[in-house]
This record gives sequence, structure tokens and C-alpha cells, in this order.
Amino acid sequence: MKIYSAIIIGAGNRGSKYSELMGKCPDKFKVVAVAEPVKGRRESVAQLHNIPNEMCFNSWVDILNKPKMADFAVISTLDDMHYEPAMKAIELGYNILLEKPVAQTAQECADIALAAKAKGVKVLVCHVLRYSPFFKQVKQLLMDGIIGAVMSVVHVEAVGNVHQSHSYVRGNWHSAAETTPMLLAKSCHDIDIIQWLLDKPCKKVQSFGRLSYFRSENAPKGAPIRCIDGGCPIEETCPYNCKKLYYDDKKNTWFRGACTKGIAKTDIPTDDEVMTALQTTDYGLCVYQANNDVVDHQVVNMEFADGITASFTMNAFNQGGRYIRIFGTKGELTAYARGSEILVYTFEDRKQHTIPIASMDESIVSGHGGGDYGIVKELYEYLSDTYTGFCAADIDISVKNHLIGFAAEKARALSTVEDIDAFFSEYGFVNE
Ligand SMILES: NC(=O)c1ccc[n+]([C@@H]2O[C@H](COP(=O)([O-])OP(=O)(O)OC[C@H]3O[C@@H](n4cnc5c(N)ncnc54)[C@H](O)[C@@H]3O)[C@@H](O)[C@H]2O)c1
Repeated sequence: MKIYSAIIIGAGNRGSKYSELMGKCPDKFKVVAVAEPVKGRRESVAQLHNIPNEMCFNSWVDILNKPKMADFAVISTLDDMHYEPAMKAIELGYNILLEKPVAQTAQECADIALAAKAKGVKVLVCHVLRYSPFFKQVKQLLMDGIIGAVMSVVHVEAVGNVHQSHSYVRGNWHSAAETTPMLLAKSCHDIDIIQWLLDKPCKKVQSFGRLSYFRSENAPKGAPIRCIDGGCPIEETCPYNCKKLYYDDKKNTWFRGACTKGIAKTDIPTDDEVMTALQTTDYGLCVYQANNDVVDHQVVNMEFADGITASFTMNAFNQGGRYIRIFGTKGELTAYARGSEILVYTFEDRKQHTIPIASMDESIVSGHGGGDYGIVKELYEYLSDTYTGFCAADIDISVKNHLIGFAAEKARALSTVEDIDAFFSEYGFVNE
């Protein structure tokens, strides 16, 4: 059995997760090189896979300046560093496991897909939710025809108020101009999931949404710019008090790690390093006085082929967790991604059936409801041309689904209804 060799470009949260999961499948994958500027992260990957020093690089530029050294590249740098490494890796003939969003603009996304096609390399995009037992099961039930032909979908991405504050008010994705709009940064998964479940081309989109709440006019009178400056009138009750979220909550390694990026000397930041982050970075800002501009709620209405309709809502004002309701000619399916069952009401017997969501081995699952593990598992078949699954989102389909998101953003900005056939053709794609 062939073992696929990999290089990892960007060993942050995502890159180190893929490194760890590939390390659990030594009969399938071998990580042979890593490019990552943060020493501790680079060294953890090197240590896990016994990578010699000469195969450890500080940057994607250095590793991709060398001749091709592996079967595929994992590109898991931040959003603004996907396009250039992806284009260079394609030029070198690497297959790629590429983090979403594919790139920051519709044109860049299209360029990557067209370059991959021209070069004949495979690019699998990390739409990890497709591989989670939850969404896989929903898809399987639809393919089995349990609710007949789908007529309509309501899908909700409940981001969670604190998650919104961390990632989209204070954190990496606070600015649509610096990264991508919310529909791409977060909800490219959801647009992709809806299209994948329906398995039909999307024909029209319309969208509304704005940044309504995390704005300066909602700051309590007298609130300091940084929570830790003290004197905030709602210090005790504010759910976004950064001292409580980042400093006091020692168990939140996600938040503590993210806020101390570039400050902490190791992957386990000290209290002093967290405090420095809260004094000097955006993670210490009052959520009403941050430098954010991405929406905190948005709806997208979509019309698919055969007149199927879908409505998607993302918003920050909840505990978090996706849910979906799908309406078919023979019944209705309702499911909450964090739940343990899918409910199916069938018209014929007028009964509600409860279908448990398949569970996975918790020791290997983690991350995106099992999706991280699932994509690595299916990656092997995808690379070896033996793919029998129904989850893989290769670059062509992923980019088309990104383009639907860009079209929806255009519709939101201009208050238009965007025709997807026309939008696709602007970028050299046929909507089929
Ligand atoms: N599929 C998903 O569900 C999912 C979830 C979270 C994040 N993401 C995406 O994954 C990507 C990475 O996110 P993350 O949370 O791991 O971010 P991260 O900041 O933890 O990791 C990015 C890494 O890239 C490194 N880097 C910076 N400059 C570099 C260079 N020149 N060469 C090589 N590496 C460099 C950084 O030091 C960092 O370690 C983002 O695009 C993000 O949107 C996807």
C-alpha cells in the first residue's frame, strides 16, 4: 500500500491538527517537511514525524523554492496566505489539502481551480463538516429518499456570541477587507453544505445582513477601550469581559493560545503572556470598540435548479451550533448538529422517527464533530483515485460554492438578486 508523503505549510491550529491525525495513520501518510515561522510549532511537527532539520523551513516561500519533495502539500496558513502558496505548489505539481476559504477573492479562487485543472493536480478543500457523522448521515438519508424529493431547506449557523466576539470581533477574521466576508470566512462551509445536500446548481441568490451590535454606539457609557484598564460599568456582568474569557479561564487553551500568538514562547502561554496580549492586542479590546467590520447577522436566500429554495441564516446571538430543517415531498427532516439524533417525520405513516447520529471513537474524533478525522481518512482514497465516498469537495466544486458566497455578498452590498449562471461565467465556470 502506498504511503503518501506530505509537507505541512503553516503549523498553527489546523496544520498541527492534520499533522497529528496523519501521525495516527502511519500506513497511509508520512509528513516529510514543515514550513512554519513559529519555532515551537515547527518543532512539534518535526518531533512528531522525525523530520530532520534540513527539512524544516521558516516560510512557505523557502519550502516551495525547493524542488517538489512530497506527494502533497497541506496548506493551512491564514486566509491571506492561501493564494500564493497554492499557486506555487500547483506549479510545482503538488497535490494539495487546502484550508478554506480557498482564497480571498472570487478571482483568486477561480485562478486556483483553473490552474489545478490545467496542471492536472488534485486539490481537496477542507470542508470538514461534510465528513462529520452528523452531516454525512443527513446526506445519506436524503440520498436514500427518506423524505422524497427536497423542496426547501432552512439552515442556520448559530455562531455563538462568545465565538463571534473572539474570532469575528477581536480576532483573525474581524475585518472583511483583511480576510474575507463572514460568508466566506465562516459560512463557506454552510453554503457548501446546502449545495452538497441538494446536489443541484444554485441559480439565484439574495442576501441581507449587517453589523448591528458589536459597534461603538452600543458601548456602555464610560467603558474603557480595553477591559483590563478597569472602570467599565458592566465589568462584572459583561459576557465579553476579556479578563474573564482569556485570563481567568485557564481551561480555554483555544482563546489563550490565539491571543498570545507571537507573544508566547511556548504553545502553553503563561498568565503574564496572556496579560501582555490583553494589554497590547485586539483581544484586549472592548467588543463595542474593536476594529471589526464583519456582519453579526446575515441571511441568504437561494434558488436552486428545479425551483428548490433554501434559506440560510448566520448570526452571533446564540449559544452556538448549526441546525437544519429539510422539507421533502414525503416528509420532513430536522436536526441539530450538536444533538444526538435526527428527527424524520414521514407523511405516509404520520409518524416521527428518531434516528440516532452515528457515534465515532472519541479518542480520534475531536475537531468539527469528527470532520477533521473524516477528511484525513478520505484523503487517502481521494489521492489514490480509489474514492468511493460522497463527501470529497474537490477544488472545482468548492470554488463554485465559494463563488455562490461571493455572489451573495455582492447581492447584499448592492441589494440585488444575483444570477449565478452569469456570475460563474465571469470567472470562467459553467453552472452545471
Ligand atoms: N476547515 C475548517 O473548519 C477551519 C477551521 C478553522 C480555521 N480554518 C482555516 O484554516 C486556516 C488556518 O487557520 P488556523 O486557525 O490554523 O490559524 P493559525 O494562525 O493557528 O495557523 C496559521 C499558521 O501559519 C503560520 N504562518 C504564518 N506565516 C507563514 C509563512 N510565511 N509560511 C508558513 N507558515 C506561516 C503561522 O505562524 C501559524 O502557525 C485559515 O485559513 C482558517 O480560515 C479552517
